[in-house]
Amino acid sequence: MAVLTFSWEALYNELMSCTKCRLCEHRNTIVIADGNPNADIMFIGEGPGREEDEQGVPFVGAAGRLFNLLLEEAGLDRRDIYICNIVKCRPPQNRDPLPDEAEACLPYLRAQIALVRPKVIVCLGRIAARYVYDRDIQITKQRGQVKKAGVFYIIPTYHPAALLRRDELTNDFVADLLAAKKLLKRIENSEKIEA
Ligand code: URA
Ligand code: SF4
Repeated sequence: MAVLTFSWEALYNELMSCTKCRLCEHRNTIVIADGNPNADIMFIGEGPGREEDEQGVPFVGAAGRLFNLLLEEAGLDRRDIYICNIVKCRPPQNRDPLPDEAEACLPYLRAQIALVRPKVIVCLGRIAARYVYDRDIQITKQRGQVKKAGVFYIIPTYHPAALLRRDELTNDFVADLLAAKKLLKRIENSEKIEA
């Protein structure tokens, strides 16, 4: 499916009534994004959970609260970044989005990227990294490794929910947030970046 969406209004209109995959059957509220549509850093998660589906806002549940704390620790403000997901509707029982669901929803993500025009994209977890960074991503091996893709740079890291289960991943996660911040500074200073 090619979505040629050149305005936020057209994108939102299309999303609000989207039935392009089976996930539309279960959703309470579509979860499109949070944060700043002019952000330099964009974070991409997997898909809404229960609380996100109730509130229509990404990363507001337990993983989201931890994410907010760690953003703060890295000196990033949630109001300065843009946050969205691979799929905009909640997968039942929080299962991983199936490949056909992700493929159906990806044109919307591409439109979001085109409209926000971030300089740095951070993939939160394996699912986001799989569709945006590397189909065969091994997150424990490749997290933090910057890759250039067209006009922007992508960094994969852990999903905040993984940190709730494995606290020992937190330092690496914060290191990746700091790396994203530093990368942005270097881009703004037109420094040469190996990626
Ligand atoms: N997990 C995600 O991947 N996205 C959300 O919005 C919430 C939890
Ligand atoms: Fe449409 Fe995406 Fe929701 Fe599927 S997950 S119904 S493609 S908005």
